[in-house]
Amino acid sequence: SSSSNYKNILVSSPEKGVTLITLNRPKALNALNSELFTELNHAAKTADEDAGVNAIVLTGSEKAFAAGADIKEMLSKDFSTAYKSNFLGHWTELTQVRKPIIAAVSGHALGGGCELAMMCDVILASSTANFGQPEINLGVIPGAGGSQRLTKALGKSLSMELVLTGRGLSAAEAEKHGLISRVVPEGGDVVAEAVKVAVQIGKKGQIAVQAAKEAVNASFELPLAEGLRVERRLFQALFATKDQKEGMGAFAEKRKPAFTNE
Ligand code: CAA
Repeated sequence: SSSSNYKNILVSSPEKGVTLITLNRPKALNALNSELFTELNHAAKTADEDAGVNAIVLTGSEKAFAAGADIKEMLSKDFSTAYKSNFLGHWTELTQVRKPIIAAVSGHALGGGCELAMMCDVILASSTANFGQPEINLGVIPGAGGSQRLTKALGKSLSMELVLTGRGLSAAEAEKHGLISRVVPEGGDVVAEAVKVAVQIGKKGQIAVQAAKEAVNASFELPLAEGLRVERRLFQALFATKDQKEGMGAFAEKRKPAFTNE
């Protein structure tokens, strides 16, 4: 499907090199049904494969980044269909994207919405953001990484409290505890800020950018010694790039580097 065929998301390019994906099911507070997620995966993959794109910004509406997986879609599911269709399994495709994804979160980021934000590489939030894993109130638990990624970000005690009580986490708390990189002050525009971050990233050598994402992500998956080995090997490999010669050469010559992504 081309971008014009999407029913649940909008795709645009606010700046050169930046793809902006906007979740667009306003009446359902961007509840994440499987059609929406299939479209999101497709749009992200398309951007990932487009040499003209350096980074992706993902956002929702003022009221909701996303209020979770679509409860109405899940209500009548039974175990055998959930298991056989590997329900929510396809959400992880988003984490295979190699280019940086910056989440711009306003309003509710609950359940799958919080999990979606945590699948992104950087989270910026406006002061209205409300994070949480309220699945416990529905008789279930987080199913798209909430119990794992939240715990890595917040530690055990606070994650347990959130997952067991279902209470929300304000933008200020999320910032204080390291779930997000920062809150955009009131009056600021979180999407514009996220696009600025994407533009900044776009000025770097993109091989190094993708290697950096790979290295940081390794820290979430590997024991320290293995992670350090991955990092060092990627670091060494970058000496085979023109961008390394350009970046270090430009420094030595006291000029700005002109990276060519080679
Ligand atoms: N799924 C389906 N529809 C949803 C939804 C969801 N997760 N969240 C909101 N909606 C719908 C509402 O049903 C409502 O639709 P109707 O107008 O047709 O009734 C519409 O969006 C507006 O919602 P509200 O009227 O409830 O808006 P509000 O401002 O009063 O409340 C809210 C906002 C507190 C976010 C509330 O909507 C809410 O609690 N939503 C559910 C949050 C939730 O439990 N998320 C976790 C889902 S489970 C999950 O995500 C599993 C996983 O790990 C992947």
